[in-house]
Amino acid sequence: MKNVVILISGTGSNMAAIVRTAQQQNWATRLGARVAAVISNRPGAGGLRTAADAGIATAVVDHKAYPSREAFDAALMQAIDAHDPAGQPALVVLAGFMRILTPDFVAHYEGRLINIHPSLLPAFPGLHTHQRALDEGCKLAGVTVHRVTAELDHGQILAQAAVPVLPGDTADTLAARVLTQEHLIYPRAVAQLLQEPIC
Ligand code: GAR
Repeated sequence: MKNVVILISGTGSNMAAIVRTAQQQNWATRLGARVAAVISNRPGAGGLRTAADAGIATAVVDHKAYPSREAFDAALMQAIDAHDPAGQPALVVLAGFMRILTPDFVAHYEGRLINIHPSLLPAFPGLHTHQRALDEGCKLAGVTVHRVTAELDHGQILAQAAVPVLPGDTADTLAARVLTQEHLIYPRAVAQLLQEPIC
């Protein structure tokens, strides 16, 4: 069985969309894959409850408990790899995981680590993407699924979806419109990767 581990920091609506799709599309039989665990760096992340309610193993690796980024990432790697008998899951999926990862972590999961970012990369890497798109007068906004490299919000683009920016939009209304697209393209991208040989 190909194991997928999802990392979250908050609500986990993208994680929930992946879990829902995996169930609806019967990934276990069709792709020989399952969401093995959901891990959060924040003990209070709402997505932990959602995952537990769906019968998925959860864990917390609280970044505040570690003296350095390196120590946190080492503990996180250990927690992730514990969910695969072969010692490394097929895919590690960042879904609203709001931590910058060290080059060692990225190298450890090379080819198996993906992220979703709420902008049309390479535009607007980093934070506050929706407000920045509004400030620039963008007519389109959107979301990108990409492979993770050591450089923040860079890496091969795997999927994108665009939405219009509408008159009167605020960062919140735009974020909500983008999020509906996130929930469509992320499960699709994960399923596609699970069919590739590296997984
Ligand atoms: C999503 O919009 C995701 O694209 C974004 O955080 C939100 C998490 O929502 N990720 C980033 O900004 C990463 N740079 P969710 O917890 O409901 O999936």
